[in-house]
Amino acid sequence: MDLGLEGARVVVTGGASHIGRAIVLGFAAEGARITIVDRDRARAEETAAEALAAGAGEAGTVGADLGEHEEAVAACREAEARMGGVDVLAANVGWNQPGFFLDYEPEIWPKVIDVNLTSCMSCARAVLPGMMERRRGAIVATTSMAAFGEARQSVYAAAKAGLVGFARSLAKEYGRYGVRANLVAPGLVIPAGEAAIGSGSMWQHQKDLMNEEQVDYVRRLTPTRQLSEPRDIADAVVFLASERARQVTGQTISVAGGFGG
Ligand SMILES: NC(=O)c1ccc[n+]([C@@H]2O[C@H](COP(=O)([O-])OP(=O)(O)OC[C@H]3O[C@@H](n4cnc5c(N)ncnc54)[C@H](O)[C@@H]3O)[C@@H](O)[C@H]2O)c1
Repeated sequence: MDLGLEGARVVVTGGASHIGRAIVLGFAAEGARITIVDRDRARAEETAAEALAAGAGEAGTVGADLGEHEEAVAACREAEARMGGVDVLAANVGWNQPGFFLDYEPEIWPKVIDVNLTSCMSCARAVLPGMMERRRGAIVATTSMAAFGEARQSVYAAAKAGLVGFARSLAKEYGRYGVRANLVAPGLVIPAGEAAIGSGSMWQHQKDLMNEEQVDYVRRLTPTRQLSEPRDIADAVVFLASERARQVTGQTISVAGGFGG
């Protein structure tokens, strides 16, 4: 199936490591041109080199803290300038530090909301005008099954649920201009090991989940009896960004083996 992504100009936020890296490599396999925006510049450069080897038309990086509106906008502008436009925004960046709500200091709330939700708004605001002008654009945001509510994830869940409302609204506002907006909702995607996580990864705070016992526990709760891997998420993102999904907008695809609904 030709996904029609050869030469497409793609921005992947949080694309340096783990799920974002898989998304980058998914687009690379389709011959897309890619800019990775991530605060972990060294890791992003490594992933960009892998993307070139995997077939990307080009692959570059921009360093930015995407939780800062001005930095996120500037990074997208830089990506637009280096590729001559942006056709696809894979708004994948996310961050969390799990904890029960009453133990969760309000000082952390803004970071969780800014990185998971506001970063997508900042990037969308930067790239939408160009997409509308060319009447070609796809935004695919990475939400989470936690958006439907999960213990020790309340603020993250609120941000990820906000992302669903945001992307669905964009779909309704900008569909007439040739822009689609969809979401992919992973369940738990446990990194293969410490080498799979970057210095800016939220897994730095969740290493307790990276063990066989936890994997087995989640597997038993998952109807397909297998955990999602980063490439499973990437496949859904690449499909939603592609011409094959031209009539799909405002939708959330759960890639969680049936876990949680
Ligand atoms: N892994 C899971 O189990 C899981 C489940 C559901 C949803 N998700 C979502 O999938 C996406 C990817 O998750 P992951 O597990 O690969 O995350 P991760 O923490 O392993 O990687 C996130 C990437 O984003 C970068 N990053 C983090 N904060 C940043 C910031 N402020 N500015 C710029 N870059 C920043 C990191 O450097 C890293 O490369 C996130 O949106 C996450 O919320 C993950």
